[in-house]
Parts: sequence; structure tokens; C-alpha cells
Amino acid sequence: MYEDLSPIDTAKRVAATRAVAFVENGMKVGLGTGSTAAWMVKALADKVHDKGLRIVGVATSAQTAKLATEMGLTIVSLNDAKWLDLTIDGADEFDGNLSLIKGGGGALLIEKIVATASDRMIVIADAAKEVNKLGAFPLPVEVIPFGWQTTKTLIEQVLVTLDVLGSEVTLRMSGDTPYVTDEGNHILDLHLRQITNPRQTTTVLNQIPGVVENGLFVDICDAVVIGQGDGTVEMRDISTGKVQSDKMILSDPKNAFSDLGNT
Ligand code: 5RP
Repeated sequence: MYEDLSPIDTAKRVAATRAVAFVENGMKVGLGTGSTAAWMVKALADKVHDKGLRIVGVATSAQTAKLATEMGLTIVSLNDAKWLDLTIDGADEFDGNLSLIKGGGGALLIEKIVATASDRMIVIADAAKEVNKLGAFPLPVEVIPFGWQTTKTLIEQVLVTLDVLGSEVTLRMSGDTPYVTDEGNHILDLHLRQITNPRQTTTVLNQIPGVVENGLFVDICDAVVIGQGDGTVEMRDISTGKVQSDKMILSDPKNAFSDLGNT
């Protein structure tokens, strides 16, 4: 739709821009992590500068904090903000109940803390993220480095008791070494293929010592904005049951970062 943008980036950009319309003057806003969230940070910075809004952001990762600061947004800690009006974040998968898998970008712990500390969470996603049942995307579980192999074994043991189709658990790597989150932890990716009961799965996983948090978001997301490659956006609100569709015409993203797809 936009000369320089692929359909997937157009989808992410329109979803992000539509969600930013819900940010109002004076709000405290949680800023998600990932390539879709990066479009949101850019759209929010444009809106703040164009309209002279006074908002503060709480970033869900060092990566987002850096981008937001470079874009001229004011970033504060969650301790300073205490509670947020709205969080806008991406997702790896969402289902019809707006349960999510998050953490593909490794920021699930802070993302869950920030979204939970918000009156409202809006997820922004391209249409490919919608699934009937969660689980095709490997479920990230953040674990402390101490004894992570034992934690992995304990996870494998409880998976047998859960209604999931797969049981492979892999340590996320960054090159030759284990991936380290902003909090200094590791991530185990659970290849479950299908998660029939996300609520039970999140509860059981979080009871295992060594598990810090998992990437299932249940009853946290209020609405999803789904972008398409042709600029169409659909917003679904779980609390009101309202569904709205628009076609967005956006100006060319002249100096929008060309490498956002890899953010
Ligand atoms: C990071 C996340 C991201 O929101 C999720 O991985 C989606 O990323 P993208 O918008 O790049 O597809 O959960 O921890």
C-alpha cells in the first residue's frame, strides 16, 4: 500500500497508528516491545509532537526505552508512574478470547507487569497472529539461570499433566550462549503445538520454582487492533463486544526506520 513498505509492515503500521488514537493528553502509557510496538512508538512520538500532548511512557524493554527516548518521548519507571492508563503492545499469537502468547522478543516479564498495571491493554497485530487455539508459536517461559536445567525437567514433567499436544522444551540461545533477558534470566521455549486450556497452563507453569513468568496473557488484554497489508484495520473490544473496521490512509513513512521489521 505504501511504496516503501511491505504488506506486513503496512499491516503493523496501520494497527499501531490506529491504537495510538486512544492515547489522550495526560496519559501514562505502557510501551510494548517488538517490531509492531516500534511502529507504535514512532506513531505516538509523531502524535505527541504534532498535537503537543503531555504524556509519559513506561517502556517494557531496554530496546523500547532507547527507541522512545530517541524519538523524544518521556520515559519514566513503573515505580514513578505507579499505575498506567493504557498499554499498547504486540503479540505472537492471540485467540478469540484475546488470550495471548507473548515473549518472542524476550520481554514477556516486564510486558506482563506493565500490562497488568494498566487500566487497559490494547494489542496491535497483523492478521497472521490470530489463531483458533494458542500454541503453534512456542510458549516462552522466563527462568532464573540458577538450576535452569532442573527447572526445565520440572516443566517437562508438568507438561505431561496439561492438555497440550507437544512437549519439547528448548533453551533460547543468542549465538553460542544462552539468551539473557533484561532482568538477567534465561528463556525456555515450550513447543506445545496446541494449548487447550491457557488459564490452567499459566497457573501450573508459574507454580514451578525457578519459573519467573510465562508468556501466556489470560484476562489481561482488553482489545486487539488487527492490521492488513492493504491498510484495513479491525478493532475488537472484548469488554464491549464491539467490532469496528476502517481503512487507514497514512502519509508515506519517509523517515520511518527502514529496519523496523528486525526490531
Ligand atoms: C516481545 C513480544 C512481542 O510483542 C511479540 O514478540 C511480537 O513481536 P512483533 O511485533 O515483532 O511480531 O512479546 O517480547
